[in-house]
Parts: sequence; structure tokens; C-alpha cells
Amino acid sequence: MDFTGKVALITGGGGGIGRAASVGFFKRGAKVVVVDRDGAAAEATAGIIRQQGGDAIAVTADVTKSDDVKAYVKAAIDKFGRIDCFFNNAGIEGKLKPTAELDEADFDAVIGVNVKGVFLGLRYVLPEMIRQGSGAIVNTASVAGLVATPGMPAYVASKHAVIGLTKATAGEVARQGIRVNAVCPGPVDTRMIHALEALISPRDPSAVSAMYQAAQPTGRYTTPDEIANMVLFLCSDLASNTTGGQFVVDGGRTATGGAVTNIANR
Ligand SMILES: NC(=O)c1ccc[n+]([C@@H]2O[C@H](COP(=O)([O-])OP(=O)(O)OC[C@H]3O[C@@H](n4cnc5c(N)ncnc54)[C@H](O)[C@@H]3O)[C@@H](O)[C@H]2O)c1
Repeated sequence: MDFTGKVALITGGGGGIGRAASVGFFKRGAKVVVVDRDGAAAEATAGIIRQQGGDAIAVTADVTKSDDVKAYVKAAIDKFGRIDCFFNNAGIEGKLKPTAELDEADFDAVIGVNVKGVFLGLRYVLPEMIRQGSGAIVNTASVAGLVATPGMPAYVASKHAVIGLTKATAGEVARQGIRVNAVCPGPVDTRMIHALEALISPRDPSAVSAMYQAAQPTGRYTTPDEIANMVLFLCSDLASNTTGGQFVVDGGRTATGGAVTNIANR
């Protein structure tokens, strides 16, 4: 996997998975555009790359706002002239509430970032890639885009929608040299999973963590680097005829039906 001379743009690049991917692209030769609504977090990721001799810029942008999305695309083109790899990754978990109790505003917030944000990224990055005649995109879905996590209806709906957007877009641009895939992480050791642990049990989030991790066939959360590795593969020439796919990285959780009991681990 060699990204020498290539430009990678990552949204949510200030967070766990986005930062791991940003550093991963840099380590394999790419110039990196780190986008996050948390400007300090984006700057910190770009700083990690620059400290190691890499070329990176940070852009503060809210992926739900089309002006911000146009601005991050323009920043990438102004600085580096092209976008070869686009990791369309920013997302939020929202509230832990059943459908019968979830507020409309909370539903809109999750759909806004996780679906509209992903759409806007595609909407404004794709024209650049079409102009180039090449490009690789990975959208961050989730195993929640394949099977339901009851109690997170907006999140589950949003990640199913990301897979739909991935499939539709992949078919549209395949003849233009552009590939579009989705990565479906299971629980990953980032702020997001720890926030969910605290929502489930405010008094004892570490007990939730222990239970969740024990329920994974591999017995642990996936690391951000393990997600980044799949993203790098999908953006690389090694995946040159791979498009429209959904790639699960979850320690075997979905394959085993998310079973909490596993006789083999007793
Ligand atoms: N951690 C998990 O267990 C897990 C599992 C499956 C999928 N995912 C997905 O992975 C992606 C990355 O999540 P993470 O685990 O790294 O969480 P994280 O919270 O560490 O990172 C998310 C980043 O996205 C940024 N962000 C949020 N809303 C934004 C907006 N409107 N505009 C720009 N940036 C915004 C945040 O500031 C943060 O830096 C998300 O799409 C998430 O849904 C995570």
C-alpha cells in the first residue's frame, strides 16, 4: 500500500478512527487534509503528522453545512491540487432512546451528521475525482448498518443509509475510475464507545465495557488502527476492482449474531 504523491482527505480526522487513518495515510506516503468540526482536534492530528516530517493541513468544518463542505474541498485543492482518497468518516452516536421516546430534534441531529454529512461529502468531492478520472472513497458505516442495535434507532437508520449511499454512488462512478466502499466497524476503542458505555450505565461504565468486550468473539474491542488498515486497503491499488462493498471489521461479532454467550469462550 503506497500512497506516495497522493492526497487523502479525512473527515472526523480529529477523532479516534479518523486520526488513526490520517496517520496511516501519512505513514504510507500521502499528503493529508484533516477535517473536523473540532478545530483543535484536527490541528492536533495534523501536528502529529507534521512533527514526523509529513505534509498535512487541518480544516475546521461542520460536515452538515454545505458551505463548510465546499470550503474543505477547496482547501484541499488549493493546497495540494487534488483529492485521491476520501475517508468520509465523521459521525455521532446520538442518544440512547427507543423509537417511542426519541425526540425529533435528536433524530434530525444524527441523520444530519451521519447521512447528510456523508452525502454532502460525496456531492462535493466526487466532481473533483470525476475531473481527475480517478479516486477512492470509503464511507464509515457500522455493523449498525447491517444489524440493529435496539435503543439507537436514528444511528441504526443512519448507518443503513450510509450503505445505501455507498452502493448507489459506486454504481454511478465506476466507469469514471472512482471506487466507493463502506467500512462497517464493530465496537472500536474510541471516545464514541466509551460515551455509549456511560449512557448505558452512568454509574459503572467499566462493567459495560468488560461485558461488551467479553461478548466479542475475539474478546476485545477493535483498535482504531485496525479500522484504518481496512480503509487504507480499500483506498489502495490492491483493491483496484473493489467497489460498492461493505467491509466488516468487528472481531467476528456480526458473524456470530452478536451473541453475548459463546460456549467456546467459557
Ligand atoms: N467507535 C465505535 O465503536 C464505532 C463503531 C462503528 C462505527 N463508528 C463510526 O466511526 C466514525 C468515527 O467515530 P469514532 O469512533 O472515531 O468517534 P470519535 O467521536 O472519536 O470521532 C468522531 C469525530 O467526528 C467529528 N465530528 C462529529 N460531528 C461532526 C461534524 N458535524 N462535522 C465535522 N466533524 C464532526 C468529531 O469532532 C470527532 O473528532 C463515526 O462515523 C462512527 O459512527 C464508530
